[in-house]
Amino acid sequence: MSSNLLVLGIESSCDETGVALVQARGQEVPVLLAHALHSQVEMHEAYGGVVPELASRDHIRRVLPLTERVMHESGLSIKQLDVVAYTRGPGLAGALLVGAGVACALGAALGKPVLGMHHLEGHLLSPFLSADPPEFPFVALLVSGGHTQLMQVDGVGHYAILGETIDDAAGEAFDKSAKLMGLGYPGGPALARIAEQGDPKAYKLPRPLLHSGNLDFSFAGLKTAVMVQAKKLMAARDDAAGGEARREGASGTREWADDNGGRDEAGTFETLPITIRANLAASTEAAIVEVLVKKSLAALKQTGLMRLVVAGGVGANRSLRAQLNAACSAMGVRVHYPELEFCSDNGAMIAMAAAMRLQSGEQKASTVYAFDVKPRWPLNQIQPR
Ligand code: KG4
Ligand code: ZN
Repeated sequence: MSSNLLVLGIESSCDETGVALVQARGQEVPVLLAHALHSQVEMHEAYGGVVPELASRDHIRRVLPLTERVMHESGLSIKQLDVVAYTRGPGLAGALLVGAGVACALGAALGKPVLGMHHLEGHLLSPFLSADPPEFPFVALLVSGGHTQLMQVDGVGHYAILGETIDDAAGEAFDKSAKLMGLGYPGGPALARIAEQGDPKAYKLPRPLLHSGNLDFSFAGLKTAVMVQAKKLMAARDDAAGGEARREGASGTREWADDNGGRDEAGTFETLPITIRANLAASTEAAIVEVLVKKSLAALKQTGLMRLVVAGGVGANRSLRAQLNAACSAMGVRVHYPELEFCSDNGAMIAMAAAMRLQSGEQKASTVYAFDVKPRWPLNQIQPR
C-alpha cells in the first residue's frame, strides 16, 4: 500500500448524492480535501417520502458534475486518484447502481482500483472527519433513518453488534410520528424544531424495551401511542368546538367533524393550537431520546468502555446530544459526534471509511470492475470483495 493515498468516495444509497476526496498519509487520520453534496429532499417532498425511481434518475444527473466540482476544488487531477470508493449497500438498489456504475467505470477508465463500501460503516467512521476524532475502542450508537444499533467497535472492520431495533429505527419513529402530525418529510428535523417550544413531560408516551435487560430497541409501538394521543387531543378539541356551537345554537358541528374525516387524518392535527402540537412533538422526542440515552449508558457499562461515538442522521438531534453529553460527563465518558453536515448521508464518510479500511490493511481495492450492489447488507457481514 502506498503511504499516500487519494481516495474518491461516491455515496448514492438513498436521497443524497455525495462525492468527496480524502487523502491518507501513512497511519495518520485521513484528511478531507473537498466534498460536494446534492440533496433530493425538495424533489421527494411533494410525495411525502423517497420515490426510488426518481432518486436513481437524479443521482445520474448529479454524480458527474459533483465529481468534477470536487476535483476542481481540490486543485488535483482525476488522474492522481489512487482508489475510487462507492457505497455498495445497504440502500435503494437503483440508487446504489448509479454510484457503483460510475465508480467502476471511472476506475476502469483511469486504470485505478475500486472499493465497494458499507453505508453504515461510513456513518460509523464519520466522526473521524471531525477536528477531534475518537480513538478505538468505543461504543457506537448508530441512529439513522433505517438503522438503530449499538456496537462495540474495536478497530476498523471489527464491529460487534450489542443490540439493535427489532422493528422501526429511531429515525423512522421520528419520521412516522412527524408524518401523522402533518409535519411533512423528512420529519425528524421538523419534529425536533417544533419540539423546542414544547413541554417534553406534557404527555406520557411509552419507552419501549427500556427495562428489557438487553440492548435491543423497539420503536414501532411509539407511533401508535402518538397517534392515539393525537386522536384524543383532536376529539377533545372537537368536543369543545361542539359544546361551543351548541351554546351558540348552531347545528352541524358534529357533521363537520365527521365530514372532515377525521381525526385520523394528519391534516386535522395541524389545526390544533401550536402549544399542543409542540407538547406532543416534545413528548415524542423525549420518549425516543430517553431510550437511546439509557441504552447507550447500559452499553458503556456492559463493555466497560469509556468512549461513545454517535453517528447517523438522528445524531444531529440537539436534545439527544444535550442529554448524552450530560449523562456521559457525569460518568467521565467522552462522546464524539460527526460534524452536523456529516450526520446525514454524504460522500465524505464513504471516502473516509474507504481510506481507513485501506490504511488498516483490512481490505484491498480491486481492479475487477464487474460490480453488484447489496440493498440488504448487515454490517457484521462485511466481506472483502
Ligand atoms: O443517516 P441518515 O441521513 O440516512 C439514513 O442512512 O437513513 O438519517 C436520516 C434520518 C431521518 O429519519 C431523519 O428524520 C433523521 O435522520 N434526522 C433527525 C434529525 N435530523 C435528521 N431526527 C431527529 N432530529 C434531527 N435533528
Ligand atoms: Zn445513511
